[in-house]
This record gives sequence, C-alpha cells and structure tokens, in this order.
Amino acid sequence: MDKQGLQVAIDGPASAGKSTVAKIVAQRFHYIYCDTGAMYRAITWKVLQAGVALDDEAAVKALLNQITIRFEPGTPVQKVFVDDTEVTLAIRQPDVTNAVSQISAQSAVRAELTERQRQIADAGGIVMDGRDIGSTVLPKAEVKIFLVASVEERAQRRLKDNAAKGINTPLETLKYEIEERDRKDSTRKISPLTQAADAIRLDTTSMSIQEVADRIAEIIQEKESL
Ligand code: DC
Repeated sequence: MDKQGLQVAIDGPASAGKSTVAKIVAQRFHYIYCDTGAMYRAITWKVLQAGVALDDEAAVKALLNQITIRFEPGTPVQKVFVDDTEVTLAIRQPDVTNAVSQISAQSAVRAELTERQRQIADAGGIVMDGRDIGSTVLPKAEVKIFLVASVEERAQRRLKDNAAKGINTPLETLKYEIEERDRKDSTRKISPLTQAADAIRLDTTSMSIQEVADRIAEIIQEKESL
C-alpha cells in the first residue's frame, strides 16, 4: 500500500483530552482527523430520532446500514453529518451522551463502524481517536498513544469546558459521570477500553494540551524518520 503518512491511534478514557490533542497533531502533520466517538454518537442520534428501542439490536443494525456518517472541516470543531443533516451539536446533547454506551456495546454496530474506520484510515496520514483504535481498529498503526489523567483532573477540565458553554454541572456530578463512563467503556464485552500492548502511555494529569501535543509530535517524527 502506498501510504501518504502514518496511522496514529490515540485512545484513552472519557475527557482525557484525546480529541483536542488529536486535532492539533493532525493539523501539524496535515493529516486527516477522525473522531470515532462522533461516529458512535451519530448512530445513537439516529436511533433516538427514529424512535427505535436502544436494545433492539436488529433494528439498530438495519438503521446503521441505511445511513452515511460524514465529516467536514469546520472551526472550532469538525462538522458531523448523518446523510444530509448536520448533527455536530445534536450529538453532544445529554440524551445522546446518556444512550451512547448502550449502542456502542452492540457487536453489529462495532463491526460496521470498525469497518468504516479502517476504510477511512486505509491510505494513512490519519489521526484517529477513540477507545479501541490501537487495540482493534488499527492494530498495525505505526503510532499508538494511550492518554490517561486522574478523574479529578478530567472533571476539572470538563468543568472549565462547560463553564465556557454556560453549563453549570457541579464537580462531584462530573466526577461521578466520568467514573461511570470509564466503568461502562472498560467492562463491555466487545472491544473494551484497553491499552494496546505496544501503545505509549502518557499521563497528562500535570501536562498542558500543548505539551501533550508536542510529545506526540516528537513520537510521530521519530517514526517518520525510520
Ligand atoms: O469519545 P466520546 O465521549 O465522544 O465517545 C462516545 C462513546 O462512544 C463513549 O461512551 C465510548 C464510545 N466509543 C467506543 O466505544 N469506541 C470508540 N472507538 C470511540 C468511542
């Protein structure tokens, strides 16, 4: 395969800063950025819109087979479309956030989205973030990063992000929500959140976004020069 660049997999738990860092790194190397969490959120949004029961796996699968999920460049965030409908904001709403774990645990959904993600990454020059990219989706990715940070730190970061959006959820609630998502993502049967054996673990608790992005850029440059 004639690749235009490396495959960079960035995994880690909720609110570890994956997407912010992944976007910066992708820009720096002129790579494509793919937010796989947004793909799980997009099918969840469609399921809610269609009034399909979250646990009706056959109906969820049928719905997923009928839709396209697309990204378009946008500032400050990449735009997400389900068919021709823009869902960039809708997929971040609490109804989707609360339902997405149930949809992303379904084997048919994971199989289909894994296949689509592999196609997106096939030509290389990609930074893909998620929970199972290094372990399952792109096991041969040249660069695999596993980002972690303490629950306290992740809740503080979420608090700051929320404040900027005018959302005032208390810190204790945010901590609880983060712990719950960690638990669900790590204990599901298929493709749970796990660090790939050959992934580099970065604890970002006391690092700035820029420091994390710089460190990942160094790792990519080292691999590129091999
Ligand atoms: O990163 P995020 O919060 O937008 O992800 C939304 C949900 O999707 C999260 O609960 C875990 C799930 N997910 C997954 O199972 N596998 C991925 N590769 C990415 C996200």
